[in-house]
Amino acid sequence: MDIEVIKAKIAEFKAKGCEVPDMDMIKTPEQIEGIRAAAKINNACLDLIAQKIKAGMTTEEIDALAYDFITKSGGIPACLGFYGFPKSICTSVNDQVCHGIPDKTVLKSGDIVNVDVTTIYNGYYADASRMFMIGKVSKPNQDLVAITKECMRRGVEACKPWAFIGDIGAAIAPFARKHGYSVVTEFGGHGVGVDFHEEPFVCHDSKKNTGMLMVPGMIFTIEPMINTGKREVYVDAGNDWTVYTQDGGMSAQWEYTVLITETGNEVLTY
Ligand code: MF3
Ligand code: CO
Ligand code: CO
Repeated sequence: MDIEVIKAKIAEFKAKGCEVPDMDMIKTPEQIEGIRAAAKINNACLDLIAQKIKAGMTTEEIDALAYDFITKSGGIPACLGFYGFPKSICTSVNDQVCHGIPDKTVLKSGDIVNVDVTTIYNGYYADASRMFMIGKVSKPNQDLVAITKECMRRGVEACKPWAFIGDIGAAIAPFARKHGYSVVTEFGGHGVGVDFHEEPFVCHDSKKNTGMLMVPGMIFTIEPMINTGKREVYVDAGNDWTVYTQDGGMSAQWEYTVLITETGNEVLTY
């Protein structure tokens, strides 16, 4: 679709009172190729972690794997030094919701851990996270991981041109609640590509036909954080980063980056 046709269509929605993206949220073909290249490294990094992660390893060892892989690929781990974040990736175990800092914690059988990796390559950003189940994981924890992935998948399915960002949370939250879970709303998805966190903010609990219009060329993450207990969270006062569930319940998260295409969407990172 010609950019002038897209602009005209955006103007129609704006005239109807819809929230529409600024033109800088619509990536150029050159930017999309740059983000794709960053995504390729980021996906391969998570594939490598998937092969290596196991009981007995520390989260710091996972961090070292990611640092070595990304830097040897010519990239930069985006988290390292980001607002003072001390490591290259986030590792969030069990009741940690997100932004866990890799340390001497030893992964043990039964743990569920989110590994969140963001790569900068040639100035472009790609962001993704996956859950890993260590050794023998309880049925309730297996279910949480699977349902959270399905939440993300449903969010992705809601992504198509001329739909709305609110459709994503509308596809996720009722499904999560149907399974007895709650949805974290303090953190969410975000535009990504030219910077780490761009507009729009993607809330994982929202209403259909609300929020910003989705337009071909937009790139943003979908990264639901789903809790077995209550939705409330707190930030570790000791490190000012790690987010925990308030009630000590388990939490899972998956994160993909999607590109809005002319016909639907394309998953760039996973
Ligand atoms: N990768 C995370 C996200 O999905 C952000 C991590 S920021 C850090 O947006 F500083 F904690 F690394
Ligand atoms: Co991330
Ligand atoms: Co993200």
